[in-house]
Amino acid sequence: MSAILKNIAIIGASGSVGKPTLEELLKIGKHSITVISRKSSQAVFPAGVRIEKGEYDDDAFMKSALAGQDVLIIMLGFPGLPQQDLIVQQASKAGVMYVLPCEYGMDSQNDKACEISSMIQDKRDVQIRIKELGMKFIAVVTNFWTDYMIAHNAGGFNLTAKRATVHPGTYRWHTTTQAQVGRGIAAMLSLPAATIEKDFANGWLYLTSFHVTHEEMFQAILTATNSTESKWQVERKPAKQLLEEGQVKLKAGDRSGVWDVLHGATFAEGYGGEYSREPHNVMLGLPEEDLVDVVRQAAKEVR
Ligand SMILES: NC(=O)c1ccc[n+]([C@@H]2O[C@H](COP(=O)([O-])OP(=O)(O)OC[C@H]3O[C@@H](n4cnc5c(N)ncnc54)[C@H](OP(=O)(O)O)[C@@H]3O)[C@@H](O)[C@H]2O)c1
Repeated sequence: MSAILKNIAIIGASGSVGKPTLEELLKIGKHSITVISRKSSQAVFPAGVRIEKGEYDDDAFMKSALAGQDVLIIMLGFPGLPQQDLIVQQASKAGVMYVLPCEYGMDSQNDKACEISSMIQDKRDVQIRIKELGMKFIAVVTNFWTDYMIAHNAGGFNLTAKRATVHPGTYRWHTTTQAQVGRGIAAMLSLPAATIEKDFANGWLYLTSFHVTHEEMFQAILTATNSTESKWQVERKPAKQLLEEGQVKLKAGDRSGVWDVLHGATFAEGYGGEYSREPHNVMLGLPEEDLVDVVRQAAKEVR
């Protein structure tokens, strides 16, 4: 049997997507896992992992925490993103082979998405950096996390205020639950090392839970919350229009345009909401999920 990439380090392992990823890796039970967590962090981790507490700019600490790691998974919260380049440099110095950089969103292979969003272009820059430093990247594409979107009143749906901006049309886009992101990453990293090298080195892992229209997502929200459209304030607007409104805001210096651009692009044709290839779900044996159930659970977490 071909060997696996046994030694995995995770940064951000207590976060929204780090937690399910760590849980799934532990469930599979094939890897030696090291969690790297900041000294100031209050995060707690399950038994069965080696915990390294320290700072990303402490060379000696990072060298020792990353020594012998085959894979580094970086799942930094947004405020930590400026630290990613430093972390990547530390990984290279320690001899890490594969890095999963902070992606876990829109498809960084999509040229149009990179043109309209510097956040997505930045992901490409990180991939180039990883290669320049002699390592290989594996970019994980998930689009919006379904449950996170609902719980954060995002994606055009505000469950708290019962307000929705629905993007009409038949365009289907992918969305992935946080649990499925964790399952997908853990399953991919449990493949034989030779398969990972062949199929994913300097490549993309595409994950999905649902392939839906924006209207279908709204109907699922109404069903999951036992509501009807008449109880909501609903505006219908083409996704492309939202994208363009976001671009106008950005030109005028209004940073809230960043999210309108990202949302509009996810739900408008051509920017990667619909993946450019079949997702890897079947290859990885990922389960089917129920959209209404997922929305019902996430609706309990709305903040
Ligand atoms: N597709 C989507 O819908 C979506 C949504 C949100 C995020 N994302 C992507 O997923 C990545 C991970 O997001 P997440 O929501 O899982 O992250 P998160 O829960 O906000 O944070 C994850 C971890 O990052 C570490 N961290 C390091 N520096 C930090 C800092 N300055 N401030 C806060 N945390 C810091 C912390 O670990 P320790 O405390 O252990 O040090 C924290 O637990 C993001 O970078 C983004 O690329 C995608």
